[in-house]
Amino acid sequence: MGAQTVEYLLRDHGRLERLLAELDGVLDQVRAETDAFVSHTREISGILDRLNNELDAHVEKEELLFAALESFFPRDSGPLMVLRREHADIFLTFSRMRKAGGALPATNGNEGAPARFESYVRGALQLMRDHMYKEDRVLFPMIARLIPADLDAELLGRMRAVTARPLDAAALP
Ligand SMILES: [Fe+2]
Repeated sequence: MGAQTVEYLLRDHGRLERLLAELDGVLDQVRAETDAFVSHTREISGILDRLNNELDAHVEKEELLFAALESFFPRDSGPLMVLRREHADIFLTFSRMRKAGGALPATNGNEGAPARFESYVRGALQLMRDHMYKEDRVLFPMIARLIPADLDAELLGRMRAVTARPLDAAALP
């Protein structure tokens, strides 16, 4: 029995959570004021870029785990289906949020746009936190008990290769 994979993914979650907290901090500073949001656009967009890169690599790693778990769990129901659907929801919310954020500099005093952007960001933060909480508290402890040591070692090697590969920023939403 081994759980190196779980520890590795938990560290990923820690990095993601630090980025979410950074984003939370900026949102708290600017609130939904049009001018403040526009002046913080570059800072927010920088955090979203980093978050996007981390998230993309992280979900790719988790997908390696999920594919391996198909020997233990059904593919079309239960935890694998729920968690995969949440990954898709997170990416969808993320791309809507980026679109709303990208439109901010052009809104010039349109008070609805910053509020809409903020609500997308808050929604995305909540979605990611709820999802990671579920994995941390339910899925990962179960994996730590179930995963055979040889599979654990193999998956860890493959996950590390995902991190090492340069991200293709152009392919990100
Ligand atoms: Fe996940």
